[in-house]
Amino acid sequence: MTYNLHMADKLFSRYEELKEQIHFHNHRYHVLDAPIISDVEYDRLLNELKKIEAEHPDWITSDSPTLRAGGKPADRFSKIRHPAAILSLANAFGADDARAWLERIKKLDDRVEKAKFVVEPKIDGLSVVLHYRDGVFTQGATRGDGEIGEDITNNLRTVRAIPLKIPVSGKQKAEVKAPNYLVVRGEAFIPIKEFEALNKKLEEAGERTYQNPRNTAAGSLRQLDPELTASRPITLLVYQIVHAEGGKVPTSQWEILEYLKALGFPVSDVPKRFNDLEKAIEYTETWDKGRDNLSYEADGMVIKIDDLNLASDLGFVGKDPRGAIAYKFPAREVTTTLNDIGVAVGRTGVLTPYAILEPVEIGGVIVERATLHNFDFIAEKDIRVGDRVLLKRAGEVIPYVIGPVVDARKGKEKKFKPPTKCPACNEPVEHFEGEVAWYCVNASCPEQLVRNIEHFVSRGAMDIVGLGIKIVEQLIESGLVKDVADLFTLKKSDLLKLEGFAEKKADNLLGAIEQAKSQSLNRLIAALGIHGVGEVMANDLARAFGNVSALSKTNADELQQIEGLGPNIAESIVDWFKRPANQKVLKKLKSAGVDPMMKKEERKKDGKLTGLTFVVTGTLPNFSRDDAKEFIENNGGKVTDSVSKKTSYLVLGENPGSKFDKAKSLGVKIVDEAGLKKLVG
Ligand code: IVH
Repeated sequence: MTYNLHMADKLFSRYEELKEQIHFHNHRYHVLDAPIISDVEYDRLLNELKKIEAEHPDWITSDSPTLRAGGKPADRFSKIRHPAAILSLANAFGADDARAWLERIKKLDDRVEKAKFVVEPKIDGLSVVLHYRDGVFTQGATRGDGEIGEDITNNLRTVRAIPLKIPVSGKQKAEVKAPNYLVVRGEAFIPIKEFEALNKKLEEAGERTYQNPRNTAAGSLRQLDPELTASRPITLLVYQIVHAEGGKVPTSQWEILEYLKALGFPVSDVPKRFNDLEKAIEYTETWDKGRDNLSYEADGMVIKIDDLNLASDLGFVGKDPRGAIAYKFPAREVTTTLNDIGVAVGRTGVLTPYAILEPVEIGGVIVERATLHNFDFIAEKDIRVGDRVLLKRAGEVIPYVIGPVVDARKGKEKKFKPPTKCPACNEPVEHFEGEVAWYCVNASCPEQLVRNIEHFVSRGAMDIVGLGIKIVEQLIESGLVKDVADLFTLKKSDLLKLEGFAEKKADNLLGAIEQAKSQSLNRLIAALGIHGVGEVMANDLARAFGNVSALSKTNADELQQIEGLGPNIAESIVDWFKRPANQKVLKKLKSAGVDPMMKKEERKKDGKLTGLTFVVTGTLPNFSRDDAKEFIENNGGKVTDSVSKKTSYLVLGENPGSKFDKAKSLGVKIVDEAGLKKLVG
């Protein structure tokens, strides 16, 4: 008994230690941008923590890093009354406005004459208010109307830059300590690079892209499902103490920033303090010119009186404190004529419209092209060729069209019709149910060739070792390869003409290509890159049809007999095989000797696992991922990537990922490698 207690004590200390370590590394990574351990090591700590929490759910506290993953969706947000008004700022448009502000407040208080000023970036994001009780993040709210905001605590907890714990007196060794109750304010936002990456991912998936970082951040934080917020790259910078109880906090803005930083909050490194306003204006103007160097969108700088007692004594005008002003950068919005609409073909075949503009200057840059997001956007905003359009360039974000200036229409503007043919290869374009994008699905479209071949030779497909992207590009550039089938007729003399190719490299590559000719049917089907057909579906198709020729003659009804194959994918498959360009590639593959068959007995292979669906997570003792997959499939089972209610078993290895949690929450049966083998007998 004593022994058990001792064990539990030890485990509990380990639990506390792990939480501390994870908070520490999280701060290094998300706040200081200076990690000292690898992602794998971080995951290991987190997994150990998760394991302990699974055994001792009663130990979980609101500062646990595992809560950052999201949690249950809410029905609505409740309201939170802010402990002090969350104020706004008066604007200054240029140096003279700023000087006039100073003159006004000088008249109100003599101390202004000798005041210092802190200049900070004015981040274009969403104001949030964070509450810490006894050093633990307990509540977070939107600004709302300045008096009452919405409780978005669970969403904010997913923002990795927000510390879940800060040092308070008596608890930690840290030199700087927070009062027992501390409420801070900051700006949540999505950095420009992350925003663009997010949009690119959405675009490639055929989903609707976001219009700008600010709205995306605001929308993401006001999601009822925190898991969705967790998937968005939101971060934050804090700049104000709204309220403090049970402890002293600094009384100058400059010291507040340093103090917040020392407590572990993310604080901008742009702010500077000046003894006179002219210097502050000068600094502001350097950032006006250099705003593209900021990693986020800023619409100006905030000039604040450093002495917070003085600032507070100055009072407000409406909701704007007199002690600070927003020095706005000139808006980077202009109007120009939309001369035409072009269509670009992305690497995945997505067609994206872009604006061809009468060249115009915005913030020192001449803009001739701007994104139009997608065809639905053009229709919704009723953007017509010849329109005067409002254009925005913010930070490094690719300029985008906001909408037409309808009042400037002369009647000659033309409505735009999305293309019915791919602008690169002239093949008909496709639209898939439930997606906004239009695609070119021609396997030999020149714009997509690199990506198609990259996919064709990849590990899960034809697995041609040594054919990396560089070589693929070389082969296409030299004209040797115009479609995937050309790979199989490459000659050694052709390869030797390419830069970097000597005998050995050429032989190795030709050897790997030769080997790929005998690759299995399911791999060939997966390699073709048919929209919606991944490895699992390719397996089902191989079993159902036995060869490419039979598959190419099928129809949508027949395809839908296959379990899990719906009308959209059926249509996508039939359409792919109908296209003359694709038929040509298949013919070439066949005559090059690439025409695998799946034997009858293999196709019918019913095993002990027939009808069962498996998901594998973590590292198994003897099987690699591929081995486990093959083992399951050879015994008639199916392997999928994500856990759902339909999953029959989760095969669990060492250091499992989030699939383990999901399986547990859905009550999916769990087996280890030995258990899996036992199922087969
Ligand atoms: S100070 C008394 N500082 O700008 C405190 N605001 O137009 C008033 N903002 O609602 C705010 N960066 O959301 C302050 N460094 C900064 C800021 C900042 C962005 C936002 C804030 C405010 C809006 C005012």
